[in-house]
Amino acid sequence: MARSRPSPKKTAVASVKRSELTKDSDRATLVHDLHVHQEELHVQNQQLIAAQTALEETRDRFVDLYDFAPNGYLTVDKDALILQINLTGAAFFGRSRDAIVGLPLLAFVARQERGEFLDFMRACRGHRSGPGPVVELAARTADGVRHMQLICRPWKDHAGTREFFMAVLDITDRKLADADREVAAREHAELVGRLLSVQEDERRRIARDIHDHLGQQLTGLRLKLEQLGGDPAAAGLRERILDVHRIAEQLDTHLDFFTGKLRPAALDDLGLVVALSQFVNAWSANFGVLGEFQSSGLDGHRIVPEVETHLYRFCQEALHNVYKHAMARRASVILARRHNQLILIVEDDGRGFDPQAPRKQPQEGGLGLLGMRERAALMGGKVDIESKRGKGTTLFLQVPWSIASPPPRKILNSPRTTKLVR
Ligand SMILES: Nc1ncnc2c1ncn2[C@@H]1O[C@H](COP(=O)(O)OP(=O)(O)OP(=O)(O)O)[C@@H](O)[C@H]1O
Ligand SMILES: [Mg+2]
Repeated sequence: MARSRPSPKKTAVASVKRSELTKDSDRATLVHDLHVHQEELHVQNQQLIAAQTALEETRDRFVDLYDFAPNGYLTVDKDALILQINLTGAAFFGRSRDAIVGLPLLAFVARQERGEFLDFMRACRGHRSGPGPVVELAARTADGVRHMQLICRPWKDHAGTREFFMAVLDITDRKLADADREVAAREHAELVGRLLSVQEDERRRIARDIHDHLGQQLTGLRLKLEQLGGDPAAAGLRERILDVHRIAEQLDTHLDFFTGKLRPAALDDLGLVVALSQFVNAWSANFGVLGEFQSSGLDGHRIVPEVETHLYRFCQEALHNVYKHAMARRASVILARRHNQLILIVEDDGRGFDPQAPRKQPQEGGLGLLGMRERAALMGGKVDIESKRGKGTTLFLQVPWSIASPPPRKILNSPRTTKLVR
């Protein structure tokens, strides 16, 4: 059965209705989408605003940190022109930030240290990796001369130009304290030097007095006893006279020993090598420890008298310690010139000790090593102690030859005339 077909007019009306329906739904979808996008944009916008606020806060915090950091910071270009400076840095130089930016950093360096600053900038430009160059300079500031430490860190390339970030540390207080300490150390050294030289003069005077008075009288007494011993009138007293003569001889020997200890005549008359050699022999004979002395590189050279005294006393104290503490069988002393150093070595094969052990209380002694170090410092030298328990001890003293050796004219003029030999 054939179906009846709809009339063309009805079909057209239906089609228009359908298309209107579709348009309505598209529009609704579009409006919905637009709302969604708008919402998304709003959220994104809120997020952007929040991010920007956070960034601004962070930037402000870093600007504050930069400006009010305890140290100065500045940025310079390759010619050390100041591009940026924080407030602490500006306060250090005593000028406003605006007045400083654009000036060369060199203008703030004390005139006599500008060469050093230019070397520092060269090092900054040449620096590639690792910790950056550091320099300490006197700075010209509104308050006068202050002292700064500059620490450089190459920063970045801006269109081919390098920038350098620098920390400016105020080290004025440290420098002043260093200077005070140096003055105090110099004064201390001068005082110790003067005390030792006064002590040495006093010892020399006492030794001379003993020699001139007691020594002469003792020699006279011995002569008289010899004459008396040969006198036939005193034949019955011969044995007793010989006894007294022997005692006088012993007294003479002891007197020699004491004057030698006070101030050895050989040191003034014949120089350090002979004096040390005699001392080591006398020490060895006196204390029953095998002692040997060697010297090298000093033939024909004289040494500054004060240095000779310091070296002699150093050796005396070192051998005294060997006798007192080491229980050694053998001790050796070496005096040598090696290149530009004068070296004194005192070595023993005794029981050794721990050189790092804490020092004794002053009332317990323990001044010997301290005195040796002080003498070394006065000569511009240094002492090394090598010692281990049961392995002996070596004292190693080095003195710059330039200090030990007098300038040529001084040798000719130096009076070494005190005579104590009887
Ligand atoms: N050659 C040595 N062998 C072993 N021990 C030593 C030697 N030299 C020094 N010492 C040790 O080092 C310590 C410090 O020596 P130092 O000469 O300073 O003081 P001291 O001899 O005890 O007293 P002082 O020298 O004031 O009379 C000694 O007490 C001793 O223990
Ligand atoms: Mg001692």
